[in-house]
Order: sequence, then structure tokens, then C-alpha cells
Amino acid sequence: MTSILEQLKDSVSNALVAAFGAEMADKDPLVAPTNNPKFGDYQSNLALSLAKPLKQNPRAIAQSIIDNLEIDDMCETPTIAGPGFINFMLKSDYVGSLLQKIQPDERLGIERVESADKVIVDFSSPNIAKEMHVGHLRSTIIGDAIARILEFRGYDVLRLNHVGDWGTQFGMLIAYLREAYPEALTTADALDIGDLVSLYKKAKVRFDEDEEFKQTAREEVVKLQAGAEDSRRAWKLLCDQSRREFQVIYDLLDIKLEERGESFYNPFLADIVSELDEKGLLEKSEGAMCVFLDSFTNKEGDPLPLIVQKTDGGFNYATTDLAAIKYRIKEDKATRIIYVTDSGQANHFAGVFQVAKKAGILPESVETVHVPFGLVLGKDGKRLKTRSGVTVKLKDLLDEAINRAKNDLETRLKDEERKETPEFIDRVAQVVGLSAVKYADLSHNRTSDYTFDYDKMLDLKGNTAPYLLYAYVRPQGISRKGNIDFSKLDNKTNIVLAEKEELALAKHILQLEEIIKEVESTLLPNRICLYLFELSQKFNQFFEECNVLNAEEPQKTSRLILADLTARTIKLGLSLLGIEVLERM
Ligand code: ARG
Repeated sequence: MTSILEQLKDSVSNALVAAFGAEMADKDPLVAPTNNPKFGDYQSNLALSLAKPLKQNPRAIAQSIIDNLEIDDMCETPTIAGPGFINFMLKSDYVGSLLQKIQPDERLGIERVESADKVIVDFSSPNIAKEMHVGHLRSTIIGDAIARILEFRGYDVLRLNHVGDWGTQFGMLIAYLREAYPEALTTADALDIGDLVSLYKKAKVRFDEDEEFKQTAREEVVKLQAGAEDSRRAWKLLCDQSRREFQVIYDLLDIKLEERGESFYNPFLADIVSELDEKGLLEKSEGAMCVFLDSFTNKEGDPLPLIVQKTDGGFNYATTDLAAIKYRIKEDKATRIIYVTDSGQANHFAGVFQVAKKAGILPESVETVHVPFGLVLGKDGKRLKTRSGVTVKLKDLLDEAINRAKNDLETRLKDEERKETPEFIDRVAQVVGLSAVKYADLSHNRTSDYTFDYDKMLDLKGNTAPYLLYAYVRPQGISRKGNIDFSKLDNKTNIVLAEKEELALAKHILQLEEIIKEVESTLLPNRICLYLFELSQKFNQFFEECNVLNAEEPQKTSRLILADLTARTIKLGLSLLGIEVLERM
């Protein structure tokens, strides 16, 4: 449905035109939800912003707008506050009728976009033969949430894993395989080359210590790029092994991704460089082929280049991204391309987008967005490391969260003198542990660094996954206790919202659509987390103040509907974050 916010905006715009003429039609009505119920549910600052251009007292402007508003069915008569704010208070009947409308709908009334435009979300994107680190974990969690939100809204989303499966590191790795596992280059069978990270380390040692090895490595790159069969085979072996390791993490986190690594764009790189040349953008600088960027300068104030071809003829990360943009627009027909990487790559993407625009590869009609995120810090405020100081293995990190969740649960069961099966305990621990990690990441504004803290993320109180999961479980408990099937509640009963806790909860439920639409453009999933956290708090307040199962009709059914809608809203909201719910915990 059209959200309340959109309806209010339309009404205010219409009233403005009615009061001050058609030239006002394109003015932003400046309506926003209030954060203090004292000022009603929504507020508009429009009258204040018009005081100067209209040369009138803002309170008088506000009054003229109010006089022309047609919103009697939605709101109480709007009031003017302070210098000229217009405050809107929703009518409880209206709120009740909206709840009734969304109750039978699986999507809870949240509309789909009109045209299913193609959106690419480029996320996760680890590098072959290197460790998938916490930065990739953030990209995976945030990218997946963004993809889910856009999918839910009805976009045609292509989830791409732009893995680093090409480049000079392969020369070194293949040269090492030739020495240590010569069969890797000849046999067609899968071969266990063990842990890739240690293989990488050993290859690097050889590369750094031995000039001759270095030379072989360089030759290997050339051979691989020329398509030599044995080099290709070794390369594929390395990629397959990495892929299996990454897949463990994706399976655990329930992440769907289509792999289209850097190597995919290799055939198009030379053309990209010629295209830049034809457009007159290419310049040779210290032997490398570059495009100089506007408004990117070094400390001396000289323009910075985007290097697209190195002195030795090899292409760069940026060249691949230019080719990828072209492919994604021409072949995939994407209208929006979203890149989820750490903030450290902001300049890379700004440069690539600028060059793509200049070269005519990226038209105005396509939006490219870098979605940057900050670092994952340990409790010491430094980059997350294990106690021994090495980078954390993602599998270990997730397992640890699950183990801790299990310990917490077992303690709780003992306290409550509850007996549960080992299957139940494992399942709850798995969901709680993994969702705690995901939620901790998503609930912070992604642009800032966040501190990885198991105790905090697993806390049953606070803005955490367990708190939300528990708020979902409570209504299920009501349904079990009262032997009530939520799906069979009488939708004809008018929903009565007499208590302030009921009304506050009801209004909050209805805001999900606004929030989702907002996140669709800001790509800040933490807004959904905050929404769900506040929803859970409001549900808990409602549940403390209002008796559900022992209430008289029609209140009882009303309250059951409220409980059910809360649960379904939490479930839907969490599903957009890639988090599943539990019926009991
Ligand atoms: N592989 C890169 C990294 O680990 C991330 C790739 C992001 N996507 C892209 N199209 N550049 O940093």
C-alpha cells in the first residue's frame, strides 16, 4: 500500500497547491515521522521553509495549509507547534483499519516496485588462494541484506561474486605447484593440495627468496594468460579448492551468490584500453597507461591517474572493473550496480566510475554506487585478531558464536529447569549464534568501524538478535498457551486500540514500509535493525500492560491480531537481514 508517510506527503502537497497555487506543486512537503510522541506521529516543516519566499508569517502559512488539508479520515485536526511546525496525530480507528487491511497479506501490505529493474549487487568477492577475512564477512552480510531487501521490493537482483581469481599472484602459485605438486599440472583428477593459505605462504617465501623462481612465476602469468593448457589446469585446481572453502561459509550463512570472477572479464580488457585510447583519455605515464582523474590529486596537488595497463602490459583491478561495468550494462541490462566493499576502496570506485562516465561506458540512466563499510575491531580497539595475533579464520569465528550461544542456552535451561532435546539445543544455538553475528554487523551504521564482542551480540537484552528472536517467540507462546491459530483469527472484528501501548505498537507496525523504502535508497540496513528493536520494545511494553488471553472480546481478538502482526513483522524484517526465526528458544 501507499505508506502513511506517502499519503501525508501527497495530502500536504495538495493542500499547499490549494492554498498558494499550482506553482507550489513541486515543493517538497517536508513531512517526516517525529521522534517524540509529544509532537504527534508526523511533522511537517514546510511552513517554515516557505516563510521567506512567501514573505508571510510561518504560523499563518501553516494555518492556510491546515485549512486546505483533506485528511479527516486519517488524522486528528493537525496542530501548529512553535514557530510553525504542523503536527499530525493519526486516528486510532484509522490505524486499526490499516492493520485489518494488512493482516491477511503475506507481504504485510508492502508494495512491490512497478517495474522490476535489474540491479546488480557485487558483494563478498574474496580472493582465490587467500584467506576470506572479516572484511569479506562484512561484505557478505551487508551485501546479502541489501540484495534481500531489493528482491523483496521486486527488483530483478543479480548477486555477483567478483572473486579475485586472476592476476599476478597466480604466476607465483602455479610456479610453486609445478615444484611441489607436479601432478597438479598434468592430472585431470581433483587433487588435494591442502590448505590454500599455507600454500600461498610457501609460494610467497619461494618468490621472495629465489630470483629464478620469480622469473618462472612471471613466465607462468604470461602462459596462463595465453591459455596454456597445463597452466589453466593448475589455475582451475586452485580456484576449485578456494571455492570449496568459501562455500562452507556461504552454506553456513545461507548466502546465494553467482560467481563471476575477475577472470571472466579478461577477454574484454584489451578492448577497454583501446576504447579509452579512442576517446582520447589515455596517457602514458612512467611507462604505464593511465587516465588522469578530475579532482583527485596527490599531496603536491598533481592530478592522480587511474592505471589501466602496467608497464609490462598487464591489466589492473581497475581495468577489470571498467570491463565489468560495460558488461553489466550491455549484457546484463543493469540499471543500478551496487558494490559492497570496505571504505578503503572508495577512491578506486570513484575513479572507475568517473572514467567509465567519461568513456561513455556508463550512461546517466545507470546508477553505480559504492557501499562502503568500516573495519571490524577487536575489544582492544584494533583490527580483529586472534589471541595469537593472526587473522581470524571465519569458520572459527562463526563456530565460536554458535558454541557460546549453546553455553548460554544450556545455562538458561538449567535455571528454568527445562529439558530439551540435543537437536533442539543445537538448532537454537546455530540460529542464535549466526544471527547474532549477522545482526551485530548490520545493526551498526556500516560506514563506521564496529567492535566485535561476543558477549554484547549474544546478550538477551539490548539491540541484539537474541532480543528480537525472543520478541518473536513471545507471541508464539501466546498462541500455544491459548491454543489459538493466528492464521484463523477473525479478520472482520474491528481492531480496537484503546490503550496507549496498543496504539504505539500498532503505529509502529505500520511503519515498516516507509523504512524499507528508505533503505532501498540509502542502503543502510541498520535502519531496519533499529526499527525492529523498537518494535520489540513496544511489543514488550504492550505485553506487560495489556492482558491478551484473558481480555474480553473484541479486545481479545484485537490483541491477538496485534501480537500476530508483531511476530510476522519481526519475521519479515529479520528475513530481509538474512536471519531466520525460531518458534521456541
Ligand atoms: N576482491 C576484492 C577484495 O577482496 C573485492 C572486489 C569488489 N568488487 C569489485 N567489483 N571490485 O578487496
